[in-house]
Amino acid sequence: MVTVPEPVAPVGHLALVGLMGSGKTAVGRVLADRLRRRHVDLDRAITQLAGRSIGVIFHEGGEPTFRDLEAQSLVLQLAVGDPIVLSTGGGVLGRGENRAVLAADSTVVWLRARPETLADRVGDGVGRPLLEGRSALGVLRDLAEDRDPAYERAANVAVDTDGLTVGQVVDAVLDALEDVGLVGPEALAGSTVDGAGGRS
Ligand code: S3P
Repeated sequence: MVTVPEPVAPVGHLALVGLMGSGKTAVGRVLADRLRRRHVDLDRAITQLAGRSIGVIFHEGGEPTFRDLEAQSLVLQLAVGDPIVLSTGGGVLGRGENRAVLAADSTVVWLRARPETLADRVGDGVGRPLLEGRSALGVLRDLAEDRDPAYERAANVAVDTDGLTVGQVVDAVLDALEDVGLVGPEALAGSTVDGAGGRS
């Protein structure tokens, strides 16, 4: 009898962090498929909880309202029994309560990229209120300076994504997790869906 090995998945939830344009959503989708887990996109969960788009939430209640909803959604999504792959929003580590929840329940992967790469990927910034009417490159440079230390502290592994397709990033994430003993080699078998772009 031939047995197909189950992928050995990371302990706890697998959370992707990084700036806008780092590929969290697109990579998360494929990673979840590889690890046979459910994929949750936190921004999408927020819009479902609020019944409004991210843009409308920012415009009606400002960033503090969005951050409250983000913190609530994070707790709700991580409270589920089965481990998930979670694509967070770029600002999720801004609050200490979010950092604590992630540290308690999740393996955290930082998807890194140069601000030029990120700006290229976000294009005109539609759907991302922090980029509205501003130079994406300028905002992303400032955010990198502000947030990189928090990503670094929170992450179990970091993966450089410049010049890589989504499939290549997925492979690099699984390799990095294997290197630190957080995922078994079985998860590295099998092909990945390729293609760049998409929400991140
Ligand atoms: C934000 C990133 C966005 C979204 C919101 C705020 C941020 O998510 O959560 O617009 O503070 O960097 P992505 O990182 O998925 O674009």
